[in-house]
Amino acid sequence: MRPDGLIFIGKEEDIKKSGRITAKINGREIVVFYHEGKFHALDSRCYHEGGPLCRGEIEDINGQACIVCPWHKFKITLETGEGLYEGINPLEPSPTPQWQSKGVKQRIHKLTIDNGSIYVCPPDLSVSFDSDYFAEKYKNGGELAM
Ligand code: FES
Repeated sequence: MRPDGLIFIGKEEDIKKSGRITAKINGREIVVFYHEGKFHALDSRCYHEGGPLCRGEIEDINGQACIVCPWHKFKITLETGEGLYEGINPLEPSPTPQWQSKGVKQRIHKLTIDNGSIYVCPPDLSVSFDSDYFAEKYKNGGELAM
């Protein structure tokens, strides 16, 4: 950890090459994706039941890059951590499914790039997200399930 509290995750070039990397911050598993020129850091355990997002595919949904959880295919936006679902409005004359947000479910971690290295801030635990439960459960490698 640096004197300013930032935690080193990896070299920018290495993450660009691999497209994703997992890391631990204070024992908590996170995943950093590099997608279409941007880095995104999220809790690596899915807010639904703790699936390993580091093994998911990235899909574009309505112009938003989303990670698709490999366990039950929940979709989470990389930018904001929102859970998306397809819903219909039964009051419409011919209802068609539309993507909607459930709100922010997955904790996003703030990234800093400094001199070719990627750092994250320690999480602000005064605000909670659904993914915190699984981040805690799998902390320090506990009950590792892939
Ligand atoms: Fe991720 Fe169920 S654990 S969709």
